[in-house]
Amino acid sequence: MSVVIVTGSDCRFYTHRDLDVRDRASVDRVFARCGRSLAAVVHAAAQPSHEWAASEPVVDFEVNALGTLYLLEATRAHSPDAAFVFTSTNKVYGDAPNALPLVELDRRMELPRGHRDYDGIDETMSLDQSRHSPYGVSKAAADLTVQEYGRHFGMKTAVFRCGCVTGPAHAGVELHGFLSHLMRCTVAGAAYTIHGYGGKQVRDNIHSEDLVAAMWEVVQNPGIGKVYNMGGGRRSSCSVLEAIDLCQEIAGRPLRYTCSDRHRAGDHAWWITSVQRFVGEYPAWSRRHGLRETLEQIHDACV
Ligand SMILES: NC(=O)c1ccc[n+]([C@@H]2O[C@H](COP(=O)([O-])OP(=O)(O)OC[C@H]3O[C@@H](n4cnc5c(N)ncnc54)[C@H](O)[C@@H]3O)[C@@H](O)[C@H]2O)c1
Repeated sequence: MSVVIVTGSDCRFYTHRDLDVRDRASVDRVFARCGRSLAAVVHAAAQPSHEWAASEPVVDFEVNALGTLYLLEATRAHSPDAAFVFTSTNKVYGDAPNALPLVELDRRMELPRGHRDYDGIDETMSLDQSRHSPYGVSKAAADLTVQEYGRHFGMKTAVFRCGCVTGPAHAGVELHGFLSHLMRCTVAGAAYTIHGYGGKQVRDNIHSEDLVAAMWEVVQNPGIGKVYNMGGGRRSSCSVLEAIDLCQEIAGRPLRYTCSDRHRAGDHAWWITSVQRFVGEYPAWSRRHGLRETLEQIHDACV
């Protein structure tokens, strides 16, 4: 992994180290060397694939849950004043969103206008008693541990439960990084498979720069044991079918796709993020990149 070490009160100094978050001794050594000069830890290292996790649940748990614990322990031991920002996922809610009263429209699943979650699901959704996939569970374990290091040890921890995060540098693959993979297939003329829901499953999409800007707000003014849903919101939401329309339009060529009947285990039929809590605490932050612009950037990076 790349550990990015940013030190100094103005975060001016930047160093790269390659190490595995499962290697506790090496992680500890790096943090010991930085000590109290460490200003912030942004932990985005993960086994990020929902589907792959089921094939190697032990590796998935070691990287996502145990690796996070090692980073927290090293931070607590050597750099307890550092802000600790963790990229969690909406998969910690399991498939609870699928219990929402969704209506099947022509091109997408949708909530009735006026439903409390119409403009996005907030952090009060239960994490409990739903189907998560091993990935959702390993990330939930990490998410709760990050919160606990705030509540129990008073550390400046913050969890971002992200919807789809993407951008021009995203290396999307079939089962992870949907917009990036979709645009790559469109540009390359490769076949694309839609996994279930007739392509009407809805996701909101946030540009990585907007996520980084949100993290930067937290790093400058961190709280204790904070949890935020983070995503592109309704205006940056699309179904797979709508995303295909956009990709074809931007790339100026048709995509060859098929639709399999089987959706991925624990997959959401509809997810739009409410960022109300985050905006309430950090009003200076707003999203700068819309869905079309993000896809155009991905397209330009592909070609
Ligand atoms: N992209 C999304 O849509 C999305 C959505 C929700 C949450 N997230 C979270 O955002 C974070 C980044 O995901 P991404 O989508 O950029 O995926 P990614 O695969 O591009 O990034 C994950 C990084 O973790 C590193 N890594 C993997 N195993 C490691 C290990 N044992 N030790 C150290 N580093 C290791 C990889 O080398 C890679 O650089 C993850 O925590 C993921 O769960 C991503």
